[in-house]
Amino acid sequence: MSDSIVKLKEEIQRRRTFAIISHPDAGKTTLTEKLLLYGGAIHLAGAVRAKANQRHTTSDWMEIEKQRGISISTSVLQFEYNGTIINLLDTPGHKDFSEDTYRTLMAADAAVMLIDAAKGVEPQTRKLFEVCRMRGLPIFTFINKMDRPSREPLDLLDELEKVLGIRSCPMTWPIGSGDRFRGVFDRQSQEIHFFQKDSDQKGKRIESKKMAGVDDPEFLKSLGGERQDEYEAKELYDQFKTELELLEMAGDAFDWDRILKGDLTPVFFGSAMNNFGVERFLTRFIELAPEPAPRSDGEREIDPAQPKFSAFVFKIQANMDPAHRDRVAFIRICSGRFARNMLVKHSRLEKDIKLAMPVSFFGQERVVVEEAWPGDVIGLVDTNSSLRIGDTITEMKGLEYKGVPSFSPEHFASVLILDPMKRKQLQKGLDQLAEEGVVQIYRQRGMGDKDPVLGAVGALQFEVLQHRLKAEYSVDIRIERLPYQHARWLKGANLDADRFERREDSRCLLDRDENPVILFKSDWAMRWAVDNYKDLEFLTTAPPKRNS
Ligand code: G4P
Repeated sequence: MSDSIVKLKEEIQRRRTFAIISHPDAGKTTLTEKLLLYGGAIHLAGAVRAKANQRHTTSDWMEIEKQRGISISTSVLQFEYNGTIINLLDTPGHKDFSEDTYRTLMAADAAVMLIDAAKGVEPQTRKLFEVCRMRGLPIFTFINKMDRPSREPLDLLDELEKVLGIRSCPMTWPIGSGDRFRGVFDRQSQEIHFFQKDSDQKGKRIESKKMAGVDDPEFLKSLGGERQDEYEAKELYDQFKTELELLEMAGDAFDWDRILKGDLTPVFFGSAMNNFGVERFLTRFIELAPEPAPRSDGEREIDPAQPKFSAFVFKIQANMDPAHRDRVAFIRICSGRFARNMLVKHSRLEKDIKLAMPVSFFGQERVVVEEAWPGDVIGLVDTNSSLRIGDTITEMKGLEYKGVPSFSPEHFASVLILDPMKRKQLQKGLDQLAEEGVVQIYRQRGMGDKDPVLGAVGALQFEVLQHRLKAEYSVDIRIERLPYQHARWLKGANLDADRFERREDSRCLLDRDENPVILFKSDWAMRWAVDNYKDLEFLTTAPPKRNS
């Protein structure tokens, strides 16, 4: 084996690329910050060492993001922990929850599902989970905020199964919660980690003391808390022992194959704010999570260790630098080594392009990337707008990855143009922005391009559209919201789309590839259709377009 192949394999083996999925407020920002602390030298995609003050910059930048509620720029945080390179993909949440959040999951090899112990599975987590499931991603669960009064842990596991349909395998088990949270028991090492509040919440610290198993006489004694309350200690001890026995008898055994297939989720308990359980989680995650996986082009699987470079675009962000009004395409590297200035094929356009401006981001700072490996994410400054979401760039002949599907929007609107003379610009702007994935556009049947309907996963996408149409195309529009809640693509031998038009609560439109899309006004209307039209399948994603 040549030295370059050995190096390629080593770089692949030491990479983990994942995203955190959660509902707002579950603690994603807090967990991310703690994970970065373990990383020590923080740097973003590319071989650039962090500057001494970057740790500071990171959280400042996150603060700005939080205040604005919008992801300013970056798509990935890269850091190294014990020799492993971690690519933590940014999944925009909060108000800017958008189709980008889903698309990011197309670039991940695993997901960490973060759950608030008091709240359980919440709607946004469920939606993101469904995308992970569709991709068959392994999912690791971190149940957070155990220092707060929490729901019964067995109840939470039950909910994972009932709501998400995934079985779980607890790696740690909590002892009490809230004021009575005493720590977690590690089922593998049989050690008990005692909880201590991280009062300054600033630095990396050694996790609390350990004890040799639940039968250690010191264990029971130590559960009495600061007041050394024997009654409380006995109560916590009995409950913990009962739950543990139940788990041993009726729980799922650890099974790595099932974890990799996304059938079983390893579960960890902790408190991100107190930095408790985080390091243990990170260590086990690195051991268990898969390295960058092969990707399919529909016919074959491309091995990441294939020496020829390949990557696909999963996100486009325009106006990242308002002064330059430029456009950056984010690619996920799937195989081979990336080197700056390499010449690759743009598969859809069948032309060669030189990757001269690969960048990574740190807050608003850009850094040129010289080299990157499978699993990494980098930005390409796309001056002549030649890259679209789903495009493949590669050194391999005839390779085109399967693309990135469109995801079902939940917000719908029509567009009113304020100056009818600008209809042409509007058309152009809508087409280009839809191509970038800012919104989806549906046409009314038989109406051509006239009066299209817009669809978005997050309502903020409409504001972005309005803003960009004005800034980049000088078109003023008004957005009128439409009373639909769901869109589904159809699959079936006889679509007979007219049947949806005959009802008040649904209608049939066409997407940009002429696929019929049904809009429903309510959950009820959608359920009715699913129950009554057994000959049809109602899909939450559009079939990815094969670029030809
Ligand atoms: P998000 O990115 O998922 O939206 O959540 P974020 O980390 O911003 O956390 C949401 C709130 O939950 C924050 O409180 C944060 O401090 C708190 N939190 C996160 N992890 C834990 C935990 O393990 N235990 C407890 N008790 N709280 C936790 P906040 O009041 O909104 O903000 P802040 O004033 O604390 O910054």
